[in-house]
Amino acid sequence: MAGDPILIAPSLLASDFSRLAEEIHRVEEAGADALHLDIMDGHFVPNLSYGLPVVEAVRRVTSLKLDTHLMLSDPARYLRAFRDAGADSLTVHLEVETPVEDLIAGIGEVGAECGVAVNPATPVLPLRPLLGSLDLVLVMSVEPGFGGQSFRPEVLDKVRQVRSWAAADGAEVVIEMDGGIGPATAEACRAAGATMLVSGSALFGAPDAAGVIASLRGG
Ligand code: DX5
Ligand code: ZN
Repeated sequence: MAGDPILIAPSLLASDFSRLAEEIHRVEEAGADALHLDIMDGHFVPNLSYGLPVVEAVRRVTSLKLDTHLMLSDPARYLRAFRDAGADSLTVHLEVETPVEDLIAGIGEVGAECGVAVNPATPVLPLRPLLGSLDLVLVMSVEPGFGGQSFRPEVLDKVRQVRSWAAADGAEVVIEMDGGIGPATAEACRAAGATMLVSGSALFGAPDAAGVIASLRGG
């Protein structure tokens, strides 16, 4: 919503995994609000990333909120495990086979904050009746699976749509965007109504993380 602080969540996928704790502390000191963890199963997306032991290890070295993006064909099977590993929020994709209502209930059962993500080509209309039961809507601004891709501005209409529904319904939902976000694209995201921005390569690839975070926030 206008005036809300913009939350910044660095995507660890773009960090140097050989120095993970240092990378986490670097973005923590630079003012990150959360860490975005990309979990890929090589099936829902054509790539593998990392899983439970890494989430547990991240949990041990930071108190930042762990914003966990489950790019899994069968997320229901792993909700409890990721929650137990230390995830604070669990975001599942609307495109998977399991009915989203069941996934939302499952996330509630494990006591995590609940997010639903949509790929660039997926309409947001099915989310409207669910907004009151969601903590977060994640509008992907690239095809999920890989960091370092170009931002797709056509998804901004969906952000505006969700923002206007949330305002009309009085739903306090965070609208997160993910993919290709850096200083050059963040303003359009904020203007459309996004309140949480994920940034991987633009943030970890820059020497001045604090400067990038300030610019993503629009400060
Ligand atoms: C893509 C992931 C993103 C990715 C973002 O599937 O969901 O979180 O790491 O990386 P950048 O900011 O480099 O596009
Ligand atoms: Zn992600």
